[in-house]
Amino acid sequence: MPGRKPYYLTTPIYYVNDKPHIGHAYTTLACDVLARFKRLDGFDVHFLTGTDEHGQKVEKSAQAAGIDPQSFTDEVSQNFRDLAKAMNFSNDDFIRTTEERHTRSCQALWREIETRGHIYLGSYAGWYSVRDEAFWSEDDLSTGPNGEKLAPTGAPVEWVEEPSYFFRLSAWEKPLLEYYERNPDCVAPASRRNEVISFVKSGLQDLSVSRTSFGWGIPVPGDPKHIMYVWLDALTNYITAVGYPDVSGAYARYWPADLHMVGKDILRFHAVYWPAFLMAAGLEPPKRVFAHGWWTNEGQKISKSLGNVIDPLRLIERYGLDQVRYFLLREVPFGNDGDFSHRAMVNRMNGELANDLGNLAQRVLSMIAKNCGAAVPRRGRLTDEDQALLDAAAAILPKARDLMDRQLFHEVLETVWQVVRAANGYVDRQAPWALRKTDPERMENVLYVLVEALRHIAILMQPVVPNSAARLLDQLGVSGDQRTFAHLTGANALSPGAPLPKPEGVFPRYVEAEEGAA
Ligand code: MSP
Repeated sequence: MPGRKPYYLTTPIYYVNDKPHIGHAYTTLACDVLARFKRLDGFDVHFLTGTDEHGQKVEKSAQAAGIDPQSFTDEVSQNFRDLAKAMNFSNDDFIRTTEERHTRSCQALWREIETRGHIYLGSYAGWYSVRDEAFWSEDDLSTGPNGEKLAPTGAPVEWVEEPSYFFRLSAWEKPLLEYYERNPDCVAPASRRNEVISFVKSGLQDLSVSRTSFGWGIPVPGDPKHIMYVWLDALTNYITAVGYPDVSGAYARYWPADLHMVGKDILRFHAVYWPAFLMAAGLEPPKRVFAHGWWTNEGQKISKSLGNVIDPLRLIERYGLDQVRYFLLREVPFGNDGDFSHRAMVNRMNGELANDLGNLAQRVLSMIAKNCGAAVPRRGRLTDEDQALLDAAAAILPKARDLMDRQLFHEVLETVWQVVRAANGYVDRQAPWALRKTDPERMENVLYVLVEALRHIAILMQPVVPNSAARLLDQLGVSGDQRTFAHLTGANALSPGAPLPKPEGVFPRYVEAEEGAA
């Protein structure tokens, strides 16, 4: 789309050995909010998610389920599409690594790296963790309670000895350090960037990039006994989806990606291996990788064995979709670890969505319905206080833009909330219900200022709570084609006299079941 700036962002592709849980929902939600924000801000967004379907971990899960890996992945990949639908994710593409386009892309990338002399045949003898799909050195390991060797992630490891192709990662130490140096924002948050830099400075070993002891993956071109290392396969999805090995069309437009969003556990793969693979193939590394934190459940680490895995579908059922979307990005400074608790969830949805914003809108809109002929109120001369509230609403966008570009979602919401709180203070001080008798003209003016502030808030909240914001905008009489950030100007302000529909609550309260009730 000529004229609009491209913006390409990606989620990790999810292993299909597992049912989708809150961690998956969280990573994709952050991307979805950013994608929606950028679209409303006039960007040509390409938002990618998908599933990681090869490797030993998936092969083992298929075996355990008693079906062949292809049927298994067909079935489980669908769960992730269903999650995307249930969470109202707006991804533009959904990639599966078992697709033909991906095999072609991986084999082309391999050939490119090999032709340039960065892959050689050797043999691997060392530790491998299937759960992490990662090689670990002896120094990384610790001893478990039964004397078994454990990876730093707590995953079991097994000894592997087999012929293997290697990627000459050791040769990329200097170019990687230069890449981090030249691009101060390419790994975030800053603390993670420092970790990555010290890891690279501590010295890189060549990386085993093929296996011969199992079969579920993409064959190495020219030597099909070897299956590509699942991380090389998986990372390549980001260029497959923009058409690689064809580097003209979508690739030329969207690559390098503006953002790879990942959890902190998979940062090394994205911020060290991936840029090295790309540079070795003569391709550009990504512009930015952001590593977010992990959720715990009521203070406990989430794990299948503890049986406390949080199913996002259950959360939606219990609290409502937009409430969950809001909570996940509001509760925890993005980048930090966070804890999910019922109490925190209810506090946010009742205190902020239902009380601060929902009540404000409901109060203002029902006064208008009763006292202003169910139409946008008349606007008179603005007092300093009127102007201050409108200016504060207009000042959100430039701040939000900057914060979104740094993935500080919680601060974006805090910036909006400063205006929500200011609007609540304003309505209390102006007391339009009292003005109804004493100065109806002034009452209309006050209500006008409030609905105009609400219009800004609702437009800016669309990325986070798309359904609720749309309902609010309907109630403000803002037509579907007047809801982008380009409409956040005085020229697009609500027109006095325009009819408004009957108001109805947008943000329900969570009511605890009576003690002892089911
Ligand atoms: N398949 C790889 C990624 C390949 S990308 C080229 C993978 N998949 S995963 O399904 O195991 O994890 C995907 C994402 O979920 C990661 O970003 C991980 O950080 C995130 N989470 C898993 N559990 C989580 C929490 N408890 N909390 C937050 N995010 C967590 O890794």
